[in-house]
Order: sequence, then structure tokens, then C-alpha cells
Amino acid sequence: MKTLLINIKELLQVRETSVEMVSGAAMAILPKLENAFLMIENNLILDYGNMENCPNHNDKNVIDVSGKIVLPTWVDSHTHIVYAGNRVQEFVDRINGLSYEEIASRGGGILNSAKKLNATSEEEIYNQSKIRLEEVISQGTGAVEIKSGYGLTVEGELKMLRVIKKLKENYPIAIKATFLGAHAFPEQYKENHAAYIDLIINEILPKIAEEHLADYIDAFLETGYFSVDETKKIMLAGNKYGLKAKIHVNQFTAINGIKACVENEALSVDHLELVTDDDIAILKNSKTMPVALPSCSYFISIPYTPARKMIDAGLPLALATDFNPGTTPSGNMNFVVAAACIKMKMTPEEAINAATINGAYAMGISKTHGSITKGMRANILITKPLNSFYQIPYEFTSNLIESVMIEGQFIK
Ligand code: NIG
Ligand code: FE
Repeated sequence: MKTLLINIKELLQVRETSVEMVSGAAMAILPKLENAFLMIENNLILDYGNMENCPNHNDKNVIDVSGKIVLPTWVDSHTHIVYAGNRVQEFVDRINGLSYEEIASRGGGILNSAKKLNATSEEEIYNQSKIRLEEVISQGTGAVEIKSGYGLTVEGELKMLRVIKKLKENYPIAIKATFLGAHAFPEQYKENHAAYIDLIINEILPKIAEEHLADYIDAFLETGYFSVDETKKIMLAGNKYGLKAKIHVNQFTAINGIKACVENEALSVDHLELVTDDDIAILKNSKTMPVALPSCSYFISIPYTPARKMIDAGLPLALATDFNPGTTPSGNMNFVVAAACIKMKMTPEEAINAATINGAYAMGISKTHGSITKGMRANILITKPLNSFYQIPYEFTSNLIESVMIEGQFIK
């Protein structure tokens, strides 16, 4: 089946051949075609070009999108969409003056979500999570990475990863699963970190590998959570099962964790609210993608990733939501793009590159997702009529997305 979009006001992120990532000054360039057509066959992009070269329309499903902008769907490379219940009380506690760290030290935070998750059935977790997944798809996300990490027990982690597997089977968008057993130390292991790491490496990981439940491995490398050495052990163990690392690092403190991640060839390092000059030097010339999560900074009032400094130093940067019950109960990539422009001083061109091509790199799908390229997945957004794509971050709470196509099918 062929679908032809005609009279596209601006077709954004058009790339002749797929690009692995965009870095530094290249991030400011967002290639586009004006007055364009886009032809889709089944689930793939077949062709595109200027309207004067548009093929004849006879046997195709033709859609006139005059005045509208078309771009690839967002790629959200960092989420925790699978969880049980919520943490609204912690939200109110923070308003009343407690910090994220103080709440966590009182048994709230990740351990609070773990308690809820372990007390909830797999079916119920699936039902709660699919509502969030459907919401983000309707907001324009066409690929998403989802982490475990609220189980922190053999059964809990497997349960989460099975829910992610079921979401993969039941929804058309690309989903990658990341094992985050090293998210926090459960209460009974507070004084015995080695025993919990042993459980992760020698009990949970082999079961996950046996059931092929994870694509990547993650750890929360942070003061009070997993040390550099503990994270190295987790990364090495993951590598043995072919799981590349995507690590939470430099959220609250900078403790040389990025160096360890780069040395272990992590696919991405995520959060980076604090970034030192040494971190930038280490990331330079590495294959590790830095990932910023501005809605987390917004929600818990912590610094924003110093995007300008990083991009001006020649680094690439990806943007993701971090959708989770504690620090970011939102999976809206439009807001992420807007916050990156408004708070991190990324240009709209840079932010869109970061939320598409670089996001695709950070979840290992840049050959199929992230740009308008012949042969890539037909995952596109069609906006309402707009004067310019700058309106997408400018009107930062408006829903400017009129339709979302995933794998060649309109879902909205
Ligand atoms: O990415 N920082 C670690 N993990 C999550 C938050 C986890 C939680 O509070 O539930 C994050 O922000
Ligand atoms: Fe996270």
C-alpha cells in the first residue's frame, strides 16, 4: 500500500543517507525541503522530493497537508514507563521543602516505587503502563527505551522486563528494554552492597539472558547509590551477555563516573546535570552519546545539562524524557524539546536533531529511525498548519501535532 503526502510546507530532517549521529556545529543544521512530497510504501519511506517532481497521484492514497510541517517521530531513548502507582505525596513533600535525596533517605524514592511494584500483579502493571505508552505515542513518540529498576528482586525485575516484552509485542513502535537492577540498594542490602551486586550478576542477569528480556544494561552511578567500581562490575557483567551499557550518571554529583562509562564503551551516559571539563574531554572522540533529560531538571528543580558548553566543545547531545514516577512524571517529548530551547539554550534545529537522530543513536536504532531517509521506517509527525517549525518549542504547552504515523499507519 502506498501513501502520498503532498504540498508539505516543510519536510524536516531529510537526509539522503542515514546519519549515525550529529555533533557540535553540525547539530545546528536541520536539513529540510519546502513544498515537498513524501511517499510511503507499507511501513517504509519510499521517496521524497519537491512538489514539481511529485509522481502522479492516481493509484495512491493521497493526503494534502498544505500549510503543515512533517518531521520524523521523536525517539525517546530514556524512560521508566513501566511502574506501579505514583509518588504524588513526594511531589507535595518537595513543595514543602524536602529534597529528592532527603525523601529517598526516609525510604521514599526508588524504594517506594519498588515496594508498590512488588505488591502489584504483572497484569495490573501492564495495564497501568500501556496507558502511559499510548499517551506518549499520541504525543509523537515513535520509539522508546524502557528500563526495569523498580523490582530490585529477582521476581520484580523479571516481572518488569516481561511487561516491557509484552508492550513490544502489542504496540507498533520500536521498544528497547534496559535492565536496571542496579537502580538502588534494597533496604536489606544497605550494609552489604557486594551481596546485592552478586544477586544482580549471578542470579538476575542469567535469567534475563535466558529469556532474552533485555537489550541494554543500566546502573545509577551516584553518591549514595552505585559507586564507580560497583558500576564497572555491572557494566562488565552486562557486556558478557552482549548488553551494552546506558548509565545514569552525574545527576547530583560528578565523581568521575563518565570516564568509567566511556572506557566500558557505554552506548550512552544520561542525566549529566553536572558536567566537568574533564568529562567533556573524555566524551570527545568517544562513541558514547551524552543524553540530557530537561524535564527531570524542571520537575525536581536541579540544574539543566550544560548543553551549550558541550555542543560548543564539539560533542553530540541527545534529548529524552526520563518518564518515571519520581523525578519526571511526563513523557512529553514536545515539552523536552521546548525546555531544551528555553532552559538549555539549544536552538530549535539542535533540539530536533537531539530528539530524533541522536536519540536513535542512544537506543541503537539509527539505521531505521530518526530521519526522513529512503528505506527508513515511516514514522512521522504531521503538525497543524504552522508558520514555522520554531512554533513547536515556542508554543510550549500547545499540542501542535495533528497526526502521528507509525510504521506507515496513522494512529492519531
Ligand atoms: O532517572 N536517577 C535515577 N533514576 C530516575 C529516578 C528514579 C525515581 O526517583 O524513581 C531518574 O531520575
Ligand atoms: Fe532515568
